[in-house]
Amino acid sequence: MRGRETLADLLHPGGIPTASEVQVAVPQVEVEVQGALIDRLAERDVPLQGRLTLHGPLIRELAGVLTDAEEAQLLDVIGEGGRAHLDGAHPLDRRMVLIGYGLARGLLDLEARTGLTAAMPPHDVHAMTHAEWAAGGDPWYADMIDGALAECGLSLSDGARVLDFGCSSGRVVRMLAARRPQSSWLGCDVNAAAINWATGAIPEVEFTVQPLRPPLPYSDGSLDAAYAISIWSHYAEAPARVWLDELHRVIRPGGLALITTHGPGAIAYRSNDPNHGEATQRQPLVDLYRSGFSFVDAFGEAGDWGVVDREWGVSFISPEWMLREITPQWSVALYRPAAIDAHQDLWVLRREA
Ligand SMILES: C[S@@+](CC[C@H](N)C(=O)[O-])C[C@H]1O[C@@H](n2cnc3c(N)ncnc32)[C@H](O)[C@@H]1O
Repeated sequence: MRGRETLADLLHPGGIPTASEVQVAVPQVEVEVQGALIDRLAERDVPLQGRLTLHGPLIRELAGVLTDAEEAQLLDVIGEGGRAHLDGAHPLDRRMVLIGYGLARGLLDLEARTGLTAAMPPHDVHAMTHAEWAAGGDPWYADMIDGALAECGLSLSDGARVLDFGCSSGRVVRMLAARRPQSSWLGCDVNAAAINWATGAIPEVEFTVQPLRPPLPYSDGSLDAAYAISIWSHYAEAPARVWLDELHRVIRPGGLALITTHGPGAIAYRSNDPNHGEATQRQPLVDLYRSGFSFVDAFGEAGDWGVVDREWGVSFISPEWMLREITPQWSVALYRPAAIDAHQDLWVLRREA
């Protein structure tokens, strides 16, 4: 793919078609590949059955903490209703959920044995889920980040300084800090209540309330890596650009930025999802085709949990836009379209000098 052209330029050098000429082609997405599908377990009552997830070392090590007898004991504790969710789940996913339940209920000395802590944010503090099984944090995202950074040459077990950008109340960074204590961990978010809660509950992570626009309170080149889960899926084009520049400033040359975006795969996913539907995906598709970027001010004056920013909504980014914007300051170390829950694209960018 060439860096400076849009898809439309490449396909239609003489001019792009009008919106009515664009056909919406919706591939069927049937396989969940990796990530936070477990989030939907609580919110939408989706069983884990039949889902395919990838599991790396972090999840495998954590699963190894439980014996088979203890797993059976926890299955007893969660009862019929809890067990129904786990029917047909991958054994490693089942263990992750059971460890969460066990932690939440103070069983089997799991805090000491896993290094995880059970404290959960109250319901009026932002978190992607408040479900009991999520006590201890999110092992799926932590595992994905650990694995993707390792694939790009950065081992969190060897010690690195890493920022969770837009960390909310810390579900991902708390898991990483507990399971990769060799590294030092930072988290920032615009939601002050979430950061205040995390500061009190997760002392091993250095949390900061971040401003709506740069700068971050970190010095130039002071981080080995930063990751941002479901952040570039929300920014309008201007903040999407300035925050990439700010990550470039705080990450050292050769360091990594892992971000997730809505790409063409998210449009396909949402077209098939009854919560969205095909018709709602026409505009983002046309926008991606025309300019590589699509944005809707989805939160309006109420803001997202009270944080008002009219350039924070729902956005879609094409790979062409990304390449055009990031090069030559960054190179692409890893790109996995729709790799996260068959929905968001995974990017790992390497800071060039
Ligand atoms: C979808 S959540 C993801 C949270 C976290 N990364 C996770 O995976 O648990 C988006 C986060 O971005 C934060 N955020 C960043 N910039 C924001 C802005 N301009 N307006 C509102 N929220 C913003 C929110 O407070 C929220 O914690």
